[in-house]
Amino acid sequence: MVVNKPPLGWNTWNTFGANINEQLIMESADAMIANGLKDAGYEYVVIDDIWALKERDENGRLVPDPEKFPHGMKYVADYIHSKGLKFGMYSCAGYLTCAGYPASYGYEWVDAKTFAEWEVDFLKYDFCFHPMTERADVLYKRMAIALANCGRDILLSACSWGSENTKQWIKETGAHMWRSTGDIFDSWASIKSLAQSQIVAQEYNGHGCFNDMDMLIVGMNGKGNVALTGCTTEEYRLHFSLWALLNSPLMIGCDIRDMTDETKSILLNKDVIAINQDELGAEPFFANNFKYEINNSRTENDPFYKSYPIDTPIIAKYLDGGDIAIGFFNFMDTDASVWNFTLTLDNLGLPLSSGKTIELHDLWTGKTLKTFNGTVRIDKVAPHDCRLFRAKVVDA
Ligand code: GLA
Repeated sequence: MVVNKPPLGWNTWNTFGANINEQLIMESADAMIANGLKDAGYEYVVIDDIWALKERDENGRLVPDPEKFPHGMKYVADYIHSKGLKFGMYSCAGYLTCAGYPASYGYEWVDAKTFAEWEVDFLKYDFCFHPMTERADVLYKRMAIALANCGRDILLSACSWGSENTKQWIKETGAHMWRSTGDIFDSWASIKSLAQSQIVAQEYNGHGCFNDMDMLIVGMNGKGNVALTGCTTEEYRLHFSLWALLNSPLMIGCDIRDMTDETKSILLNKDVIAINQDELGAEPFFANNFKYEINNSRTENDPFYKSYPIDTPIIAKYLDGGDIAIGFFNFMDTDASVWNFTLTLDNLGLPLSSGKTIELHDLWTGKTLKTFNGTVRIDKVAPHDCRLFRAKVVDA
């Protein structure tokens, strides 16, 4: 199974945690249709942890909690499929899931077969309670090869949080996406720290196995399982823009049965989703004026390892057909100015001598912006806000 675009969908964890059941899943599938999420491209409905009983059955199979899922999982899958959506579930490479339910270590082939019988399309595979004597890559390879032989296409969403140097081995396993961050929480501090941790991981991103920056918190507004302070509309917009531009899967984490107009205006922005879903699947790159230089006096996980302005990154991504996505992100608590956000077009491969420039279309305001003497200059970006553009190459 080849996955060429970051998966889009909804996952139970961020808002509902343990409070999940058949009715919630079916209502959320309905909401995907009614709120236009399916039309915008979201397709996976994913049940995260805490869906099973604490014991396997006499055949060693996982058992859905009958109080939460009285008709079993195939029934839920059938309903989701009847809506033209896809069904995701959750397990873990250790003895137990992160919440302490039975997990797949030593049961990989039994569980892959069970998931296939339930017509699961997506498996999030966590990393808690794994035996320390086993190599991390091997634990993921065991489930990957079992899924690849289960007779059904099941997308493998690896979730080892970037630990044990995941990026060095994850593509060997055949996983289709890999969690490149720790867990997200509904606060600006969480968005900022996850985002800034991604600087050293972009060269592992792209086609076939995308960096997963964790589920979205857009629209949680301080309510739910991973709720903290909540965020402003600008902060949620920056979060969505950045996750989209960095090729992260966009897995919604709010209650999609009850979204505000502001939440919908973010999650349903088709131009931003198109940047995420672009056919080329190219690696995003940092386009600030800095010398791209490995600083050997620092370790690889140190954000200053590559000398790059961590609080005001300019990030670009080439798109299929020759356009370029460009984002200006202000992580500072003060306004960013033209001093922070002057982009030299040569950093995109367009020196003045090329006779070319770009026309920028702002994906949040719809306005256009012109270049000035081989540069893009953004006068002001408010704290925690961003500008995201689709740029077209034109004659200067
Ligand atoms: C880990 C994962 C989360 C979530 C929980 C469930 O913390 O990183 O995304 O799946 O486990 O227990």
